[in-house]
Amino acid sequence: MGEAVGVGLIGLGVVGSGVVRALAERGEYFARQVGAPIVVRRAAVRDPAKPRNAPIDPALITADVDSLLADPAIQVVIEVMGGEEPAHRYVRQALEAGKHVVTANKELMAKRGPELLALARERGCYLLFEASVGGGIPLIAPLRRDLLANRIASVRAIINGTTNYILTRMAQEGADYAEALAEAQRLGYAEPDPTNDVEGYDAAYKLAVLATLAFRTRVAPEQIRTEGITRLSARDFLYAAELGYVIKLVAVAERRDRGLLARVAPVLLHRDEPLAKVDGVYNAVQIVGDLTGMVLFEGRGAGAEPTASAVIADLLEIAEAVVHRVPNRAAWSPEEELPILGPEEIENRYYIRVTVADRPGVLARLAKCLGDNDVSIAAVNQKEANEDQQTAELVIMTHRARESAVLKALAEIAELPVVSEVSTFLRVEE
Ligand SMILES: NC(=O)c1ccc[n+]([C@@H]2O[C@H](COP(=O)([O-])OP(=O)(O)OC[C@H]3O[C@@H](n4cnc5c(N)ncnc54)[C@H](OP(=O)(O)O)[C@@H]3O)[C@@H](O)[C@H]2O)c1
Repeated sequence: MGEAVGVGLIGLGVVGSGVVRALAERGEYFARQVGAPIVVRRAAVRDPAKPRNAPIDPALITADVDSLLADPAIQVVIEVMGGEEPAHRYVRQALEAGKHVVTANKELMAKRGPELLALARERGCYLLFEASVGGGIPLIAPLRRDLLANRIASVRAIINGTTNYILTRMAQEGADYAEALAEAQRLGYAEPDPTNDVEGYDAAYKLAVLATLAFRTRVAPEQIRTEGITRLSARDFLYAAELGYVIKLVAVAERRDRGLLARVAPVLLHRDEPLAKVDGVYNAVQIVGDLTGMVLFEGRGAGAEPTASAVIADLLEIAEAVVHRVPNRAAWSPEEELPILGPEEIENRYYIRVTVADRPGVLARLAKCLGDNDVSIAAVNQKEANEDQQTAELVIMTHRARESAVLKALAEIAELPVVSEVSTFLRVEE
């Protein structure tokens, strides 16, 4: 058995505690696999007095991150505190000190990944981040290694369990958004402030990480057009189901002729699509490679145990390299600059729900706005009228149309005196 590999954790919350528990329970097995014991030397937290749900000697817990980063007996730093700063500073410091890093931090990798990976390479250190996307689902290693021979055509993913849980409740029980969110919060699936999840930012961070790897191009989270789920109503799910679709928050990165489409938005998915069947807090990622065709990864995208599984996989890979003194030679480097496409270059079919005055001639006026912008209607359904307010709802499905044209037509429709509201606008994901 070789010399022990020393580990320092920054963060001992849900994920950090899960990692410590698994290391305690399976330490001997890991040691046999790696050829050396793995020992937690220190864990840095915000509040050392807080009780911890992990078998760790309280003397190892500190609020002093710098002491951990300066400890020569720590070869691997596990960053599981989250957020961009000060996590970014700590990871840089660790790499500069020649320590390997494992991180579960999607925000950090989405915003600073290329820079940190370059630094890691320069120092011969590993920076692994399997847990940053999709919790326990293997995604980063397959993209880094197993799919490397492919030219990737697309990545399509349900990668936020909170929103998928909310949308599943809305679809299956007719719950409205606020009700489904409150339940997700009660069950601990949604944070007290759910903005990051429900506005799609969390999914955009994860898509940035996946797309950067898959397409070997720099995709920053702010380049990804991101729409959340807060404007959806229970009726949209009903109408979508009548048309044979489900509504899911889907993150897409797809290679097109002139660049990369990159977007997070609620979309209509045909009920027979594999992603349409991914319900509750489950995540799934569908990758199309030119050699492999479609491959699908599915599983639990969050939670202490699945995420610890991914963190420890990275830790074991590094520990083995430490034992055998193999420096990291591989690093991410961009292959090409793929421009991110705007709405004038994207075509889709669209689902539009408009609340209008319940009067004759209204549909003709809407159809004219769409027609004037070269958007043709595939189907229209007039839904029940609201007699008190003398309004009715129109659900329109378009043929394929340029997104910028549809957006322009919708802006004109919203200005019509007979229109109370353009209530929903969703793409049909094909
Ligand atoms: N939870 C999941 O299912 C999951 C899944 C995949 C990825 N992740 C990612 O994993 C990371 C950790 O998530 P989590 O759910 O474990 O978070 P968490 O439960 O909130 O734990 C965060 C930990 O970091 C510590 N911390 C925060 N700020 C600190 C600072 N400035 N200095 C030192 N320690 C600090 C906290 O200390 P105190 O305990 O003293 O407050 C806590 O122990 C995040 O990047 C998250 O996105 C989480």
